[in-house]
Amino acid sequence: KKHIISLEDFSKEEYDTVLNTAASFRDVLKSRTKKVPALQGQVVANMFFEPSTRTRSSFELAAKRLSADILNFAPSSSSLTKGETILDTAKTYLAMGANIMVIRHSHSGVPLNIAQEMDRLKTGVSIFNAGDGLHQHPSQGLLDLFTLTNLLDPKNPRTDLLKRKKIAIVGDIIHSRVARSNINSLLTAGAHLHLAAPPTLLPNLFADTVKSEHKDRLFIHWHLEPALENADFVMTLRLQKERMADYLLPSLREYHQLFGITRDRLLLCNPDVKVLHPGPVNRGVELSSDLMDDERLSLISDQVTSGVAVRMALLYLIGNLKQETNPQILPTV
Ligand code: CP
Repeated sequence: KKHIISLEDFSKEEYDTVLNTAASFRDVLKSRTKKVPALQGQVVANMFFEPSTRTRSSFELAAKRLSADILNFAPSSSSLTKGETILDTAKTYLAMGANIMVIRHSHSGVPLNIAQEMDRLKTGVSIFNAGDGLHQHPSQGLLDLFTLTNLLDPKNPRTDLLKRKKIAIVGDIIHSRVARSNINSLLTAGAHLHLAAPPTLLPNLFADTVKSEHKDRLFIHWHLEPALENADFVMTLRLQKERMADYLLPSLREYHQLFGITRDRLLLCNPDVKVLHPGPVNRGVELSSDLMDDERLSLISDQVTSGVAVRMALLYLIGNLKQETNPQILPTV
């Protein structure tokens, strides 16, 4: 692949390549040096037009661990405030030699739009979608896949490990790009997905967005209990208040009572159940505060740690591909 925009078009083999490469970088990150020269001379532009802690910092750290140079961009202190367009901002970074642009935007489609323009201009630049509106968050989907498979078999994390596992995804699914990416990856891996949310946050129509061969493994629930029964993993999602019209915003107390994940509710699940959340968390809303901090049950810190190795894998796989196909960026010495 030249760009990473969505997981909709990822094959099982491509997921396994990412998992395998991420496992190698997981080991590099545990080594004394923590760094490899794989992307020396390449420039990664981190262009976040919407706030982020995890994704921005882990792409930055991943690029640094691969010895790339990194340009960080903050909209509020950039020339966007003087009226420069997003595309002209991207072209400005292109002129400085950016080879990879990591883009987050509140509008679905912005990373794809920039990728199409970069292709039209034959720049050779790769675009990574770091989360666009309600659409996709592919690197989060991949780091969640790595977190789960790495837990099940750290020696050989692979998609097959999730075959027939029951995974509940609970919460604000309608606004969640993380849910969309995870639905693509987990169904391709062979998991059984049970989505649970109030109907305002989970329209029945949602099932129509998945590939027909996966439909028999996707279940929609407007009550929590059937989704949790015998689940192997429970993925909770943040209530994205910033994307909700007032009439959609549930009372947070009522939401926690009906859909909040607590220790008691986990008794319905498989005894080895683990809980995930992409973060940031509304503490005490999507899951109880004590559960969030319980490292025996919660994989939230593992997800953040996995993010660096997975983003290293993505930058490496795309960056190396570029070196093969785009000789003008090869070192001249
Ligand atoms: N999970 C996630 O995308 O977190 P950030 O918004 O902090 O990057």
